[in-house]
Amino acid sequence: MRAVDIIIKKRQKLELTSEEIKFFVEGFTHSQIPDYQVSAWAMAVLLNGMTANETTDLTLAMAHSGEILDLSGVVDIAMDKHSSGGVGDKTTLVVLPVVVACGLPVGKMSGRGLGFSGGTLDKMESIPGFRVNLTTEEFKNQLKHNGIVLTGQSLDLAPADGKLYALRDVTGTVQSIPLIASSIMSKKIAAGAQAIVLDVKVGLGAFMETLDEARRLASLMTDIGRLAGRKVVTLLSDMNQPLGQAVGNSLEVIEAIETLHGRGPADFLEHCLHVSAHMLVLGKRAVDLETGRRMAEGVIASGKAFEKFRVLVEAQGGDVSYADNPDKFPKAKFIEVVKADRRGILSQVNARTIGEASVSLGAGRAVKSDPVDHAVGFIIHHKVGDQLDKGEPLFTIYANDAIKQAAAREGLKTAFQWSNKPVAPLPLFYE
Ligand code: URA
Repeated sequence: MRAVDIIIKKRQKLELTSEEIKFFVEGFTHSQIPDYQVSAWAMAVLLNGMTANETTDLTLAMAHSGEILDLSGVVDIAMDKHSSGGVGDKTTLVVLPVVVACGLPVGKMSGRGLGFSGGTLDKMESIPGFRVNLTTEEFKNQLKHNGIVLTGQSLDLAPADGKLYALRDVTGTVQSIPLIASSIMSKKIAAGAQAIVLDVKVGLGAFMETLDEARRLASLMTDIGRLAGRKVVTLLSDMNQPLGQAVGNSLEVIEAIETLHGRGPADFLEHCLHVSAHMLVLGKRAVDLETGRRMAEGVIASGKAFEKFRVLVEAQGGDVSYADNPDKFPKAKFIEVVKADRRGILSQVNARTIGEASVSLGAGRAVKSDPVDHAVGFIIHHKVGDQLDKGEPLFTIYANDAIKQAAAREGLKTAFQWSNKPVAPLPLFYE
């Protein structure tokens, strides 16, 4: 078999066989197929799609590109969650410690930034020393002893997704239902998850802009999960405006820490409580969503959830003094509060524009080898439906480069649309 023939076949909109998909995935996992051919193939998949059979084959081939964890002797139910990606989506940083504090252990495999969407691993790496490349042995030991793990693809775990993910990030090949579904589900299967809560984002700042597309992604992932014998609950949540206020790596870690102390933005806290409640029900720690929610609120109020965050940071080599004292995170050189230049009601706070501007500031990557600047990003002070007076703070820029700061200032102003009439707040969840 030749990689080029597989690329051409996909370009011709033909269905790839299981053998061809396996050959291709093994080839790029072991660097026998170069990045340029993988990128060309990913673009052909993005443009021409994949059948359900191809997507399942791709998911399984990527999951089996490394080890498949068997957590049966480690936890009673291996639980996991995953978001399809959004702007300001730091949910994992709160939900993981919350559900672990409620007695449900979680070993999670996350991703890095992808296109305009931030990545949990990049966020956690704002904490000096925090390691995101655990081996399977380290994953299992930590889950057994600490009940909480947050790692990334490694040479042992879903390496194919690690490679393809990094290429998709910088080749315009993120927004593909089969590539997103296989990326997410291969990680979940490799990490041994038996029960999974999927948070599929919908809207301007999501990879699925319409409810229809989001439903298609959700049902494809649910089918793949069930075929692999996993329990799956899928939520469709809003991503037209950023979640919470902070966008950017360390800014989001700080907001997550504040939320674990009960001081986070109301929308973000509410989102986290809802996702936590679903995990607690699916993981058989709560009889219904109401009980799960109360349990989640309880561990935030008692400080037990924050304590689990500390345990996570310490277990993976991070400097826990940053969790205790978020003032220690390095500050960006230029911090500028931009004020509303009119009175009115916000009718749009475009998450896509904000996500793209944060990547341009350096919070994400333009090419694979780019380093991430953990200090840059934005605080977005208001939500759709808020009434503002002229001169009220609209957003704050955190930049390390004056030219990028000026571009962000102008770019971000276009994210806001105004109305003179009342505007209903956006829902947090659709389904
Ligand atoms: N999260 C992932 O892990 N992969 C994607 O493709 C999108 C979101």
